[in-house]
Amino acid sequence: MFVIFLFDAINSCRWQAVWLASCYRAAARLAGNGNSNYGSTDLRMKSIPNVSISFQVHTDRNVADAVVKQSVVEVPVPTADEMPPGQVLIAISHSSINYKDALAAVAHPGVARKLPLVPGIDAAGVVVESKSAAWPEGAHVMISQEAFGTTYDGGWRQLAWVPADWLLPLPNGVSPAQACGLGTAGITAAWAIQALIDHQCFDREYPLLVTGASGGVGSFTIDILAALGQRVTAVTSKIEQQSRLLNLGASNVLLRSDFEDTTTRSLLSTRWAGGVDTVGSIGLNTLIRSTADGGCVAACGMASGTDLILSVYPFILRGVILYGIDCTRYSQPEKTVMWERLTSQWLPQRALAEIEVIGLDDVPDRVFSLIENRHSGRCVVELPALNY
Ligand SMILES: NC(=O)c1ccc[n+]([C@@H]2O[C@H](COP(=O)([O-])OP(=O)(O)OC[C@H]3O[C@@H](n4cnc5c(N)ncnc54)[C@H](OP(=O)(O)O)[C@@H]3O)[C@@H](O)[C@H]2O)c1
Repeated sequence: MFVIFLFDAINSCRWQAVWLASCYRAAARLAGNGNSNYGSTDLRMKSIPNVSISFQVHTDRNVADAVVKQSVVEVPVPTADEMPPGQVLIAISHSSINYKDALAAVAHPGVARKLPLVPGIDAAGVVVESKSAAWPEGAHVMISQEAFGTTYDGGWRQLAWVPADWLLPLPNGVSPAQACGLGTAGITAAWAIQALIDHQCFDREYPLLVTGASGGVGSFTIDILAALGQRVTAVTSKIEQQSRLLNLGASNVLLRSDFEDTTTRSLLSTRWAGGVDTVGSIGLNTLIRSTADGGCVAACGMASGTDLILSVYPFILRGVILYGIDCTRYSQPEKTVMWERLTSQWLPQRALAEIEVIGLDDVPDRVFSLIENRHSGRCVVELPALNY
């Protein structure tokens, strides 16, 4: 049922893409399509626009096989008087496309919890109006929030009122494009790496392993682990990604078809000190069964599936730890500490150097690429610049 829905949604989105591109071009002409606001704290603005150019997704869930519409529209922006205390208005210059955003963009019911919806879990920009003492006007900020772009409208828009306690500081030297390039994928990679450190998986006899290596989380994980001096084996389904993954710091690259073990053996020969799994299902299953004594597997993704069929032997006979990563469950102070680590000593320079920046008109194509696993690395969305 879902597959049919998704397939139809994707096809209908393809039709929408042409329309979307022309809508966007018209809207961008209105707004002026320029560079990001980074570096500009001159907020002597004449007036904040009362509409925000936004990428909106809509469908009718009461109708079977309903068309999913994606459109670039102008959405009214509430005034400060209409907002409760503790809210800040962000002029967003950049957002990104995470796997979850791609699902939101096709109105996946598990992700798009309201309709119409503006996707975008990540956003970076500058505070242009504040009802919070903690974040004055002119502060450069980053948002990476699960509810943003799922329960509430997200970052694929120019202006957004958000709760002040969602904000992370944009460190000096990190541009909004880089911050969104890191975004939820970078933060998730950082938590997964922290789990490997906490469970003493570094500098062991065996290398670490990363699945879904060509994706956002996978690429950042490889880059950071290699920079921290660890041997990393990358698993990918894309043979053409081999040299890129080696350049990111992988010491070895395995094709998914060569790595995954579909037998029902409870344990496999030990090969890994542990690792980070971004795909779930048989990839995670194989990693757990081949992890050495006392190793830890940090599991964060399900691109391949949500099933996990195992015996208890890896856990009882080898003491393997399966550590679930949910980047949304950390408090804002914890998140801030991890964000500062990620944007300083763990900054994944190599993966960041290859970030692709696109406009709203390219978003539908990228959404399909992610869902169809034709994409690698990170994709940042640059919003039309605000003219005010
Ligand atoms: N738990 C959390 O807090 C959290 C936070 C962020 C993201 N996530 C999840 O982590 C996963 C990775 O996120 P991401 O942003 O890195 O996504 P991404 O950029 O789309 O990368 C996912 C990678 O997984 C592999 N893949 C895709 N489809 C697959 C399939 N059907 N079967 C097997 N492998 C497949 C691909 O790598 P190869 O082709 O190289 O194998 C792809 O590049 C997603 O499932 C996402 O929802 C979880």
